[in-house]
Amino acid sequence: MEKIIDENKQGKALVLEQTRGNNKKLFIESYGCQMNFSDSEIVASILAKQGFNTTQNMEEADLVLVNTCSIRDKAEQTVRKRLKKYNAVKQEVNPAMKVGVLGCMAERLKTKFLEEEKIVDLVVGPDAYKDLPNLLAEVDEGREAINVILSKEETYGDIAPVRLNSNGVTAFVSITRGCDNMCTFCVVPFTRGRERSRDPQSIIEEVNDLWSKGYREVTLLGQNVDSYLWYGGGLKKDFTKASELQKATAVNFAGLLDLCAKAQPKMRFRFSTSNPQDFTLDVIETMAKHRNICNYIHLPVQSGSNRILKAMNRLHTREEYFELIDNIKRLIPDCGISQDMIAGFPTETEEDHQDTLSLMEYVKYDFGFMFAYSERPGTLAERKMEDDIPEAVKKRRLTEIIELQQKHSLYRTQQHLGKVEEVLIEKASKRSDAHWSGRNSQNTVVVFPKEHYKVGEFVNVKILDCTSATLLGEAVGYSINN
Ligand code: SAH
Ligand code: F3S
Repeated sequence: MEKIIDENKQGKALVLEQTRGNNKKLFIESYGCQMNFSDSEIVASILAKQGFNTTQNMEEADLVLVNTCSIRDKAEQTVRKRLKKYNAVKQEVNPAMKVGVLGCMAERLKTKFLEEEKIVDLVVGPDAYKDLPNLLAEVDEGREAINVILSKEETYGDIAPVRLNSNGVTAFVSITRGCDNMCTFCVVPFTRGRERSRDPQSIIEEVNDLWSKGYREVTLLGQNVDSYLWYGGGLKKDFTKASELQKATAVNFAGLLDLCAKAQPKMRFRFSTSNPQDFTLDVIETMAKHRNICNYIHLPVQSGSNRILKAMNRLHTREEYFELIDNIKRLIPDCGISQDMIAGFPTETEEDHQDTLSLMEYVKYDFGFMFAYSERPGTLAERKMEDDIPEAVKKRRLTEIIELQQKHSLYRTQQHLGKVEEVLIEKASKRSDAHWSGRNSQNTVVVFPKEHYKVGEFVNVKILDCTSATLLGEAVGYSINN
């Protein structure tokens, strides 16, 4: 049920094209959000220049890297289990193997990793990957190495990620790093630092490059994409100090979407994730203006109760959220909308929980990603509030939220029955090799017989049947986008 945590991909080792002449072997696996998977491609690209080729066989690796997630306690426990596994391989098969921890857990635990997990040689935070060559040189000389400095500028805009283990059709392009929102439950502002945006020019270049390599859909990625703001570099929070010229020529998220949509009119664009408080009307208008910007918004709300929203430091009310939903549906009537929800935030009452269910009833989300509250060290909620909702109550509320979402998901998929919708073919269906799998504009998976169609083509599909998660249909021809 976790979007950011695509269970099929968790922990998958990244394998890239082999660079001739490279003789060291890198095993790199990733956990957590899409940004981590994207970062691992950057890391592998940096290390390719240091003589490393990627391998899927940990036992033969010279260097094992794990890109980690801190968002919930469970995510950290998964990584700890993997470290035990690496340790076993190191002791039994490959004593020369070096182990490095990257990403959010590295940033959160810093030197503690070197102290607690004796097997770790290297600790690198999300803004320090360019320092990897120096850090590895230290490790080679027998020292432990660590760099967890968070940056004001780093966006890795100048590093071309390699993407050879993808489906070749859809790609992620990161546009912002860090987050300034300080939701009280969330560890991200501490592990990924202050918010900064990437130069639109380098984003467009990456998009153009992807198009020329056959990619047909790009998801613009950030912890909080709607807050994107380019004014020549620097932190979002320093924009007030920018010069008049910088302010006049600044590019906001709607501007960036417009630039992307125009640069590649046949490329599909999506974006993730949006925070309602930063979502402005001009973004909806830009979406409505361009047919190649998908009609889909991931719009996490976390709770339907005004009291809890306030305690979470989500800077909008339930009523303002409804207004935003109404504006979206007014300008883009068939827009797909999905949510993230947290059950059992400190002090949540049954009444607050009912508010969450009634908010869901109003919006009837297409799908959602729902979690039980997990207290994270260092966050404001951890420091100021007691984690006072018993596990059993959290679980029961979460189950009620998930069950309601499943009902709404089915209601939403049923609305597609009988319609003809454009689908971008991504891969063979998991269940049947005779069927293609792709997604419609609203981000719902559509499965249909392959016939003569090929991966990467835009096809019009008549929707004939559905489950709560998938649409089933048959192709009726190419779409005009093809
Ligand atoms: N803006 C981010 C959100 C990061 S976390 C993004 O790009 O997706 C993703 C989701 O995890 C959040 O929306 C929230 O629903 C959930 N989450 C974050 N911290 C949590 C915590 N402490 N306990 C439970 N769920 C949490
Ligand atoms: Fe976390 Fe809130 Fe930012 S959920 S990533 S602090 S928008």
